[in-house]
Amino acid sequence: MGDSKLPFDGLSLAECLEVAVTASRAAGKKIVDMLYSAQVHEKSSKDLVTDADIAAQAIIFDIIANRFPSHQFVGEEGPPTVARTGGPIGALTVDSSAEKIPGAVSSVIPPDCWCWVVDPIDGTANYVHRFPNFAVSIALVRDGISYVGVVYDPMADELFSAVLGQGAHLNGQSIHCSGCEGIDKALIAASFPPNVQRGSVEIEQFIEVLLEAQSVRRLGSAALNLCYVACGRLDGYWAGRVRSWDVAAGVLIAEEAGCRLTRMDGSKFVLNLGDLTVASSAKLHTELLECLHRVL
Ligand code: IPD
Ligand code: CA
Ligand code: CA
Repeated sequence: MGDSKLPFDGLSLAECLEVAVTASRAAGKKIVDMLYSAQVHEKSSKDLVTDADIAAQAIIFDIIANRFPSHQFVGEEGPPTVARTGGPIGALTVDSSAEKIPGAVSSVIPPDCWCWVVDPIDGTANYVHRFPNFAVSIALVRDGISYVGVVYDPMADELFSAVLGQGAHLNGQSIHCSGCEGIDKALIAASFPPNVQRGSVEIEQFIEVLLEAQSVRRLGSAALNLCYVACGRLDGYWAGRVRSWDVAAGVLIAEEAGCRLTRMDGSKFVLNLGDLTVASSAKLHTELLECLHRVL
C-alpha cells in the first residue's frame, strides 16, 4: 500500500502508526511505574480494573486527541473525566457503555469514521498478580477494518505493530507465523471470559483441543496471544467471547504475519462479533476448527 495516503481523507497511516507507538510506549511506562501501587477494583465478579488501566487510557486518549481531534475513540475504561489536552477534543466520542453489558459486543464503534479502539491493559488479571503477560493495545479502525495495530508489552519491551498491507513487525523486525501444519505438533492458546461456567461449551472445547494439540496455554492476554501466533511462539489461538479492544490491533498483526484468521464457524472474521480462530497455516486452521466444532 506504500505510505498509505488513503482515498478517504488523505490520512497518513505512517503517521497514525507513529502516534500509536508513542501512545503505547507512554501508557506502557505508566503501567510499569504503577505496578506495585495500583489500586484494584472489581467491575463485576472476577472482572478487574485498576487505576493504572484508567491512567494509561487517559494518556493514550490525550496523545491521540491532540493529534487527531476529529477521530472517534472507543476505550475499554470509558470516558476520561476531564479534557486534559486543552485542544479541540470535543469531536471525540468516548463511549464504551454497551461493551460493559455481559455478552454485549462492540456495536459502539461508529461507522464511516476513523476510530481508535484501545485497551490500555489487556491482561489486567495478570497485571494485578504481577504475572508478566499484559499489553497496551491500540488500533485504528474504519468500518470494521483495522488499518493500524500496535500491541506493546512493557515488561518485555516488545512492540508488535502492523499497517494494513505492509506486513507485521516486532521491534521493527519483520515477523511471520510458524507455518505449523499439524495440530499434534501445535502449541495452541485459548481465551476465556472472566466468568466462564462449569460445563460450558468453552470448557468442552478447551478439553477437546487439550486432547489433540501438542500442548495448550491460557495466558491471559488476547492481544498478546494474537501477536505470539504472528511471531511463531504459538501456532494457534481461539477465543469465543472477546471484545473489540482486546483484538482490534492483534488481528491485523496476525493477518499481516501470514496467519489464517476467521470466526469460529469458519466465516470471515468480524471485529464486533467477539469470536475468532487463528492459526499458522490453512491446514492447522481447518484442524483446529474441526476440533472446536466437535463439541457443538
Ligand atoms: C481480557 C484478556 C483475556 C480474555 C478476556 C479479556 P482484560 O482482557 O484479553 O485474555 O480472556 O476475555 O477480557 O480484561 O484483561 O482487558
Ligand atoms: Ca482486554
Ligand atoms: Ca483491559
